[in-house]
Order: sequence, then structure tokens, then C-alpha cells
Amino acid sequence: MTVPVLTIDGPSGAGKGTVSRAVAAKLGWHYLDSGALYRALALAAQKQAINLQDQTSLAEVAQTMSLEFICASQVSVMLDGEEITRQLGLESTGNAASIVAALPAVRQALLQKQKDFKRLPGLVADGRDMGTVVFPEARTKVFLTASAIKRAERRYKQLKEKGIDANLTLLAKEIEDRDRRDSERKIAPLAMAADAIFIDSSDMTQDAVIQEVLSLIR
Ligand code: DC
Repeated sequence: MTVPVLTIDGPSGAGKGTVSRAVAAKLGWHYLDSGALYRALALAAQKQAINLQDQTSLAEVAQTMSLEFICASQVSVMLDGEEITRQLGLESTGNAASIVAALPAVRQALLQKQKDFKRLPGLVADGRDMGTVVFPEARTKVFLTASAIKRAERRYKQLKEKGIDANLTLLAKEIEDRDRRDSERKIAPLAMAADAIFIDSSDMTQDAVIQEVLSLIR
């Protein structure tokens, strides 16, 4: 039986995570937060003092690391038995993830782990290359974006809510740098699939985006 897949790609801070989680919960489908894999690898590398450019060692860690997503009222993530949920959400981890994600051997090592999330009754996959590289066969593809300033403001609010100190100007600069690195890398860059539906959420509420995505599935 074919497993239905919905891919949601887009730049950082576009609201992909919240929208994907809500849509997956509504449909009763599995959820793949592919960014969490790159983030976990970056954290594992930092813990083991591995250089973020050391492609061979990073690919080895990517293959051997054990990552567990525990879904209760809130998702917690365990890396090799250690809870890393809070560290995973830090901006510094996102930036380090963007650096290791540009290495071809790393992407190759994480490819099958991502494909394994595709199980019945369906999958919502969130990332940069879900519709172009990991699940090109997906039935429904969305490219979700928002203006850079809106994304920086949203990220600022999210971090503040989590009690994490943040600076809006610095965040906007980091978002721009990350956009550039993720879009300009040679392998699997952030790109809209030819058959994806484009949604600009700059002036939409999160709920409106969720409803629009659900209407595409139904
Ligand atoms: O979605 P996120 O912010 O958690 O992703 C962190 C970084 O990981 C992002 O800047 C680039 C990389 N990434 C990627 O290259 N491909 C994906 N499918 C998901 C994330």
C-alpha cells in the first residue's frame, strides 16, 4: 500500500515545525523533523570535539548516533540516552546544523534514517529538501516561506517564550546567513520542488496556514 507523504520545505523560521506538527496530529500521521537530525549531529560533534568540517568523522557519527523522539504532551529528544531537547532548540545548534548539513557525506549518511520515517498511515516531513531529494515521490508538497524580518520576529518571540535570551538584530542577521548557506550549498540546497505549492505566511495566522495545508490533503 502506498504511504501518503506531505512534504513541507522552506527557510528557517517560516513556521514549518508548528504547522507540520499540527497537520500531522490532525491527520494522525507520523512526523519527521529532519532539521532535528542535523541539529543532533551538530550537538554530538560538539560533545565529542569533532570539527564541523571533518566530513569523515561526522558521517561516522551520523551513522552510529542513536536518536529517539519521545512524544508525550511535548516532544523530547534523546541522543545516545541523553536528553537534548533544550540544546536542540538553541540558535547556536541551528547554525552548527546548517554547517554540517552542507557536507555531502553527512547528507548521505542521514538519508536512509529519514526515509525510514515513511510508514502508514502517512508522513508529514519538514525540512529543506523533503520534496526535492528525500521524498520526491510525495503526493503533496508545500514550500512555506515568510519575509526574513517576519521570520526573525517570530523566532525572537519563540525564544523569549522559552526563556532564552535573544537579540532581534542579531537573529535577523543569523537568519540571513543561514538562508544563504542553506540555499547556496552544492548538495540538496533549499529549493522549491517544481510540483510544490507555494505559501507565503508573512501575513497569515498560523491557524490559517494549517487550514490551507489541510485543505490540500483533503
Ligand atoms: O529546520 P531547522 O532549523 O531545524 O534546521 C537546522 C539546519 O539543518 C538548517 O539550517 C539546514 C539543515 N537542514 C537541512 O540541510 N536539510 C533539512 N532537510 C533540514 C535541515
